[in-house]
This record gives sequence, C-alpha cells and structure tokens, in this order.
Amino acid sequence: MNIDSLIDALPKAELHLHIEGTLEPEMMLALARRNGVSLPYKSVEEVNTAYEFDCLQDFLDLYYNGMSVLIEERDFYDLTYAYLEKIQQQGVIHAEIFFDPQGHTSRGISFETVLGGISAALETAEREMGITSKLIMCFLRHLPEEEAFDSLECACKHKSLIHGVGLDSSEKGYPPGLFSKVFAEARKQGFIPVAHAGEEGPAEYVEQALDDLKVQRVDHGNRAFENPQLIKRLAREKTPLTMCPLSNLRLKGIPSLELHPLKKALQAGLVVTVNSDDPSYFGGYVSDNYKAIQQALDLQPQDIITLAKNSFTASFIEDKHKQSAHDEIDKVAGKFTLT
Ligand code: ADE
Ligand code: ZN
Repeated sequence: MNIDSLIDALPKAELHLHIEGTLEPEMMLALARRNGVSLPYKSVEEVNTAYEFDCLQDFLDLYYNGMSVLIEERDFYDLTYAYLEKIQQQGVIHAEIFFDPQGHTSRGISFETVLGGISAALETAEREMGITSKLIMCFLRHLPEEEAFDSLECACKHKSLIHGVGLDSSEKGYPPGLFSKVFAEARKQGFIPVAHAGEEGPAEYVEQALDDLKVQRVDHGNRAFENPQLIKRLAREKTPLTMCPLSNLRLKGIPSLELHPLKKALQAGLVVTVNSDDPSYFGGYVSDNYKAIQQALDLQPQDIITLAKNSFTASFIEDKHKQSAHDEIDKVAGKFTLT
C-alpha cells in the first residue's frame, strides 16, 4: 500500500470549505444557462484560463462573479449536493461548511433561499451518504459591520440550522477587531465564532481574532509563524488552525508547497488540519490537499494519521463522536502496511 491509499482510506473531517468555492466550471456554465445569467466565459477552458491568481483579491473578484449564477433554492441545493458526493469519494465523513449570505442578499437573493437549498442538501446527504455537517455563516469583512448585523439578525431566525459564525473575504486592511461588536452579539446568541486570519494579514490579525472575536478556531493562520510567542499561545490554548495548502499556493501566499508552514505547525504541537478552502478554484478537494502537502513536506504515515485525527479534534462534534472517529482512524491505519 502506498501513502496515498492511506490518505484516501482514513476517515476525515473537512473544516474549512466555502460552499460557493465548490462551484465547478461545468456547473457554473450550466446554471448560467438555466438562469439566463451572462458570464465572461463561454467554455470550461476559458474559465480555467481565467483562474490565474496573484493574490486573494484576484480570486475573490472571480469568486463573487461566479456565484452570480446561483439564483434559485435548487441551485444552492445542487451545488451543495455535488460537493458532498465528491467528498464521499475521498473519505470525508463530517464537513463544517462556510457560506457567504451577503454575497447573495446583495444581489437580491433572500437569506432563506440560500439557507433552504444548502441545508436541504445537507439533510439529504446525511440520510443517503451518512455525512454529518455543520454550517458556519461568514461575514464579509470588506463590508461594514452594520451589514454583518443584518445577516446575524437573519441567522437568529434559523439557529437550529447554523452552528457558527466566521469572517472571510479581503483580509489586508480589514482587521478582525472591526467586527468585535457583531461577534460579541453572535456569541451571546449562541453561535460558535471562528475567523480567517493570517492568510495574507499579519500575525497581529490572528491575535485580534483570539482576543477581540474570541474565536475557537483560526482559519489559515499561516502568518502566525512570524510571532513565536503566538505559536506558543496557540499550542498552549490548543486553538486549531484550519490550513489549506493548495489555496495558499494558488493565491501566492507561499512561493512553493515545500515552504508551507504545516510541518512547522505539527512540530510545534498545534492542532493543525488540512482542508480545501475553494476546491473548484484551487484545483483540489481535501484528499488532493493531503496528498500534495504529504509529498511536498515528506510527511510520514504517522503525520497523516495525526492530521486525520486533528480534523475531528478540531471539529465541533460531540466528544464521544470525536473518540469514535479516532478509534476508526486507528482501526483503518492498523490495516495498512506501507510499502
Ligand atoms: N472566501 C472564500 N475563500 C476565501 C479565502 N481563501 N479567504 C478569504 N475569504 C474567502
Ligand atoms: Zn477560506
């Protein structure tokens, strides 16, 4: 058996995934036709050629444009169901999924249309495929905090469907502290807080996410490594980092995968996880990310097992389910003799 088969076979959780970032070019073109939306591309090849990014903002411009084809509840359903079918093939048994309601309500699509389609697909997938999930609603940080409050008000009407709140979009110039009030209210309302920080922004943004937003996980966190004290703190407080190697490579956050900080995170004892972020834009779903980073950093089977276990440790599932996932990982790993 080779290490790629181990990666495929291990049960895994995905914790950093934007559902709008799973919109494959074929589906984007099909939905554009179905909904009469015009796009700047005529073919899958043209879309793929356009997906060359120099930074996060380059990607976000195409990402917000791409989601303009999502209009009806069934579009959100189809998008979500297609992602779940893909990850089932990759051994993912639990997914904690971001969605960006402001990317849709700003275009006149109702919050309920978005949430209705996504949550119906999640329910079907749990029934049909046994994949469990939690939804995390993100606030777009390039928009004012008052608009985040509008989203929070909508979310409060659907607490049974939304587990947490996150912070995403353009990072530089939009520090987490700008969203302290809306996160305080979200926490008061029972939503679990997470935030993107240290993807492009400095280590100080990671500290703000911890101190001002009181996040329970940091999404990315790459630039935390510029501050050794902060790494010690993340280790001491066991705050997980949800890292996304192929995303960082494609958005030029790192010059090559060999220079990705994931191995340093493992060595520092952090609860680091591997995720896909926006797989249709960055060329790989979760197992593809595991395989690419394994090769680039020469990760050993024990590291892969640790990463798979971390994905459940860092998740928001109940402790007893974390334990049974860890036991299942040990069982699967025990059957592997690597060649
Ligand atoms: N929205 C979707 N993907 C994102 C990313 N990688 N960083 C920030 N915001 C995002
Ligand atoms: Zn992300």
